[in-house]
Amino acid sequence: MIDLTGKVAVVFGLANKRSIAWAIAQKLSEAGARLAICYQSERLKREAEALIPELRDAQIFQCDVSNDAEIDAVFEQLKTTYGKLDILVHSIGFAPADAIKNDFLLTTRDDFRVAHDVSVYSLIALARGAVPLMTEGGSILTLTYYGSTKVFPNYNVMGVAKAALEAAVRYLAASLGSKNIRVNAISAGPIKTLAARGIGDFSKILTAVEERGPLHRNVEQIEVGNVALFLSSPLASGITGEITFVDCGYNITGL
Ligand SMILES: NC(=O)c1ccc[n+]([C@@H]2O[C@H](COP(=O)([O-])OP(=O)(O)OC[C@H]3O[C@@H](n4cnc5c(N)ncnc54)[C@H](O)[C@@H]3O)[C@@H](O)[C@H]2O)c1
Repeated sequence: MIDLTGKVAVVFGLANKRSIAWAIAQKLSEAGARLAICYQSERLKREAEALIPELRDAQIFQCDVSNDAEIDAVFEQLKTTYGKLDILVHSIGFAPADAIKNDFLLTTRDDFRVAHDVSVYSLIALARGAVPLMTEGGSILTLTYYGSTKVFPNYNVMGVAKAALEAAVRYLAASLGSKNIRVNAISAGPIKTLAARGIGDFSKILTAVEERGPLHRNVEQIEVGNVALFLSSPLASGITGEITFVDCGYNITGL
């Protein structure tokens, strides 16, 4: 039994109840952590407000990670509210619609920039905000996808961004190890969420996993939440800079 009593966790990336961030928040909360949940914009506030009463001792905060002033403001609020942080979860990804629909060759400079800014740079920026509050060490976790390494239809610039994200995990792990702050990623299998809906022909990827993956089914949010709980806990004290697959084994298949 993992006990996170007395720990403070901040989870970025709650859009709705299907968000991977929500499953992770539920598992961290069940284990006893106090939860700060961050949503992107006023538009998503109501959804967050409606969900968090299900958690014990959780509060919501607004932060658009493409804005440095909002990042500074949220960490000020977290400092005032909790005084420290133990766990940070970055469950954020975004690419403009054209970039995950059109031929990869047509990726524009601006769509490339936005995808990398929101999906990759934000991990570095959030880590920098969290480090001064992680005075007793800590765990930073992000979410990636196998499209970083293998080509999936329409994943396009997100695949390039996920490759950069995975490299950022390793560089951050090396940078923060001496502070006993661990940095890891979960590579989740495909799950029908708001972000996934933007990827053209996403249902083909789900079907391929059912047909060819070792477990012949798709992964569920809560299974990602379980591994996130483990990686955020003292049980994973020896793991940093790693990409852990939670994909029903799909990544081992050749055909
Ligand atoms: N669903 C999948 O199949 C899958 C598989 C592997 C990895 N992932 C990754 O998991 C993470 C979470 O995605 P999800 O599938 O739960 O979808 P989701 O749509 O529920 O979550 C994505 C979140 O990113 C947030 N976001 C986007 N731009 C932002 C910004 N500028 N500032 C703050 N927040 C911003 C959105 O508000 C949303 O809450 C993403 O990194 C995604 O790439 C998803």
